[in-house]
Formats: sequence, C-alpha cells, structure tokens
Amino acid sequence: MSDLQALKEKLLTEVTGAGDEAAIEAVRVNALGKKGSISELLKTLGTMSPEERQTRGAAINALKTDVFDAITARKSALKDAAIAERLARETVDISLPVRSSPAERGRIHPISQIIDEITAIFADMGFSIAEGPDIETDYYNFTALNFPEGHPAREMHDTFFFNPDENGERKVLRTHTSPVQVRTMEAQKPPIRIIIPGKTYRQDSDATHSPMFHQVEGLVVDTKSNVANMRWILEEFCKAFFEVDDVTMRFRPSFFPFTEPSFEVDIQCDRSSGPIVKFGEGTDWMEILGCGMVHPNVLRAGGLDPDVYQGFAWGMGLDRIAMLKYGMPDLRNFFDADVRWMSHYGFRPLDMPTLFGGLSA
Ligand code: DAH
Repeated sequence: MSDLQALKEKLLTEVTGAGDEAAIEAVRVNALGKKGSISELLKTLGTMSPEERQTRGAAINALKTDVFDAITARKSALKDAAIAERLARETVDISLPVRSSPAERGRIHPISQIIDEITAIFADMGFSIAEGPDIETDYYNFTALNFPEGHPAREMHDTFFFNPDENGERKVLRTHTSPVQVRTMEAQKPPIRIIIPGKTYRQDSDATHSPMFHQVEGLVVDTKSNVANMRWILEEFCKAFFEVDDVTMRFRPSFFPFTEPSFEVDIQCDRSSGPIVKFGEGTDWMEILGCGMVHPNVLRAGGLDPDVYQGFAWGMGLDRIAMLKYGMPDLRNFFDADVRWMSHYGFRPLDMPTLFGGLSA
C-alpha cells in the first residue's frame, strides 16, 4: 500500500472514530491544519519535478479532497446528532395540565361566604354594613344595652374579661354584636338600616360551641318601624338565605334586656335526612335568631329620643346556620385551618354570592 493510501485509511478511521464535534475538529487540525499531515505533504509539492507533481501532486490533492469531504460529512452528522440529543433531553411535555393559579386554588371560608350571602340579601333591601371593635368596653357590651350592674343576664354571657386598666376599667371581648347598635346610633341619625357581621366571644367550647364565634346583628331605627316590618324583613331574609320559596316562622315571646317586647324566632324545617337540614318544609322547628323592639333605654343610650324614634333589632349566630346550610357536622373544623377541609367545604373565590346569580349556586 502506498504511503498516501495508508495515510488516507488512518485519517478516515480517525474521522469515523470521532465521537463528537470537538474530536472531529481535532482530526481536522491534525490533517488539514497548518502543521497537519496533509498540509505537510502539500508543502512538498514545491520541491517536486513537474512529472512527479503531475502524479504525486494529483494524488495528494485527491487525498486532501477525500479527507476534507469525509470530515465535513462527519462534522455535519455529529452536529445533527448533537441537536437531536439536546432536543430529546430538553423536551417539554406540552400535554401536561397547567397548574391552576392561586385565585383558582384558593378557597373562601364558609363563614366568609355566609357573611357575603347575608350582605347581598340585606344590601338589596337597602341596608349597609356597620362594624365595631372586638375588644369592647363594659359600657357598650352591657350597660348601654340596658344590662344593669349586677344583672344576672351579664353572667349568662360567660364573658372573657381583661385585667383592669390604670383607671380600673375592665375591657371585655364582646359577647355579642349588639354593642355596635349603640355605637351606630351615636354616630348617625335615623333612618338607620344596618347589619353588623362580626366575631364574638364567650367561654364555651365543645362540638357546637367555640370560644370565638360569629354573629350578624340587624338594626332598623326610624319614626314608625314596627314588629310587622321586622317580621316581613326576617321572612324575606330567610327565604332568600335558605333559597326556598316559602318559610313558616314562629315568633315566641322571650327576654333580652335591650329589646321590649323580645322574641325568639323558629323556622320550620325537616331534620329527617342527616346533617343537611331542609328549610321551608317538614314538621321540626329550629331556633335561628333573637329579636325585638329596641328598648327605650337603648335608644336613649344612643342619643335618640324614644318618644320620636322607634326601632327593631335582631341577632343571629352564623356558625350553626352555616353548618346546617352546608352540612358540616363539627364546628371545630371551622377553626382548624385544615387545607383538606377548606378545599372540600370552601367556596371558589370568584363565585361571589349575588341575588341575581344565585347565592350558593
Ligand atoms: N345579642 C343577643 C345574643 O347574643 C342576640 C340578640 C337578640 C340580638 C335580640 C338582638 C336582639 O339585636 O334584638 O344572644
């Protein structure tokens, strides 16, 4: 075999053996670079006789062309392989489902949802929302609401008291939302039509009681507000809230220091089918709220003349109502912050309750 033939075979073996772009580049430099084996051969052309140049020169050039072509082909094959390998490595599975956005995954707590539902119903009847502090003075929580000092009704509230401050005043965690009645009367003149949703506190804890719970209060004060108005409003509310065409309600005489007369209101229902109670039908009664005509002493505490103004008020616990409406068996889960419970019982954030769109639909 001639030396050129041997060189050609050696170089072509190297070309085939080059496993990546760097290796084939090294083969190229070794053969065709400035000091490469073929370049060195080409340099000898100048020293050849014309006859020798015709044969050996042509053979060297042919060798150069063959090796160059082989390198070029191998280079492009390796380049293609590198691209294919990278494409395979970096594939994105576009069929994977997109992870839903926080607004999609988040859930509204059933209590917040119930407050939104109640707000939607009363807003439609011309009510606005009032709020007051959770840490309340004894005056607003009791005295202004016609609970005299030492009155046994104070004991019934299982109040959380703070230590006395420097003036000897003992603040309380409000035991009901009623103190906001007087705060509102002090701040605005009638006609007053407000609801007061909020947190309330009593020392009580079991499957149906929690030391922090929720109420919504209602207050209407005007010159002619009466029990018939109150009854109509509460009936309209119950129909809208329980999403039924008709409800039967029962007003039983009761006692609250801040109303006279006072009533407890029961709503007819059917408890025969488990934790979800059906309203507007059945033969059972369930107490849902307390109400009455605002006591003249409470109007006075709010700075209103009871000979000019009269009003009515009601107060309702929200937690139990939420449990009944949405079939949640244990109140304590409300406050466990368990994501699994929330994703089951919570509401989608963009499904806001409206009367026209449906409350809980
Ligand atoms: N504040 C009462 C309670 O927590 C509920 C209540 C009853 C509120 C009658 C009222 C009312 O406004 O008129 O038990």
